[in-house]
Amino acid sequence: MNPEYQDLFSPLTLKNGVELKNRLVMAPMTNSSSNPDGTVTDAEVNYYARRSKGVSMVITATTYVIPSGKGFPNEFAADRDAMIPSLSKLAKAIQAQGAKAILQIFHAGKMSPTELVPDGDVVSASDVPANREGAAQPRSLREEEVEEIIEAFGETTRRAIEAGYDGVEIHGANGYLIQQFFSPHSNLREDRFGGSLEKRMTFPLAIVDKVQSVVAEHADDSFIVGYRFSPEEPETPGITMEETLHLVDVLADKNLDYLHVSLFDFFSKPRRGVEDLEKTRIAHLLETIGERVPLIGVGSIYTAEDAKLAFNTGVPLLALGRELVIDPDWVQKIAEGRESEIITEINKEKQEELVVPDPLWKNIINTPGWFPGV
Ligand SMILES: Cc1cc2nc3c(=O)[nH]c(=O)nc-3n(C[C@H](O)[C@H](O)[C@H](O)COP(=O)(O)O)c2cc1C
Repeated sequence: MNPEYQDLFSPLTLKNGVELKNRLVMAPMTNSSSNPDGTVTDAEVNYYARRSKGVSMVITATTYVIPSGKGFPNEFAADRDAMIPSLSKLAKAIQAQGAKAILQIFHAGKMSPTELVPDGDVVSASDVPANREGAAQPRSLREEEVEEIIEAFGETTRRAIEAGYDGVEIHGANGYLIQQFFSPHSNLREDRFGGSLEKRMTFPLAIVDKVQSVVAEHADDSFIVGYRFSPEEPETPGITMEETLHLVDVLADKNLDYLHVSLFDFFSKPRRGVEDLEKTRIAHLLETIGERVPLIGVGSIYTAEDAKLAFNTGVPLLALGRELVIDPDWVQKIAEGRESEIITEINKEKQEELVVPDPLWKNIINTPGWFPGV
């Protein structure tokens, strides 16, 4: 290995004592390739297995905790015990290649397409539709329904434990229900789940508490719990960097095993809400978090040099999404000193060799600008 990249391969011990073999993680990526009943397909399992050899952790695509939270066609399910064998199959395939398997869990809230949820009943913190064409009109959740969803996050965590996962990641990012509760744009509630910044944190923090209490009851200390968040929203009002730093400050004291920012550009800078807009979001986050909990950084890391520059910011862990679709051997190539052989654009002729299921492949090649090379 080129010594320049050696630090990416140093182990990291999480707070719960679990050792990650290196600093490289597969980012969660929805693949829309499961069966209509919510079970995983062989194509999907093979896609993960192909990418689980080099990284220390694989975070799965997001899975819904309750039927009203389904967000994508052919998304895999974790909302009922009958899904445990399917969930287990995926965990085993990842672990067999040497990576930790982390199940990402969510509720899509107002981002659910009407046709995917029971009775077309799309729900959110309040009745504010998403800012996008064709967005559904959501209904504001009643307080007891909010409690039910918190409970469902706990139940899905229990299923992840029973299915043999190494951990779960609470998906509080990308505009889905947890973020909708934190957002002053989406959350206009006047009960204990809305209003001030503190009150808008009630739902996210209640989910963290619920997940952790289920872990304490059903798993041992080695079970990993992470939390993913998006730093800012474009709307005004909307989540600002300042609000996120406040949330992160609270989360950092929650005894989580990691925090995970969601970004498409690792080096992006804040829009507003902090004095220094020239400092990257990652730098602001690291400053707030300090040594309390490891942060996973992510976003457009394609080459070994990109990874080195990102890692040099002091971020303890790096996630790769699109690049691991493009080159499943990315980590091994660096480990073997073959970083010059890394491929950074999708080769449209190589679906089979890359082991990518048909629906994900179609999405990639039909969405110009999403993946390099398309
Ligand atoms: C195909 C695709 C599906 C994604 N699905 C999810 C998801 O299910 N959950 C999530 O938190 N992020 C999801 N993301 C965001 C990625 O985790 C990641 O943050 C983003 O792709 C930027 O990293 P990259 O530049 O390494 O791809 C998805 C991204 C892509 C490209």
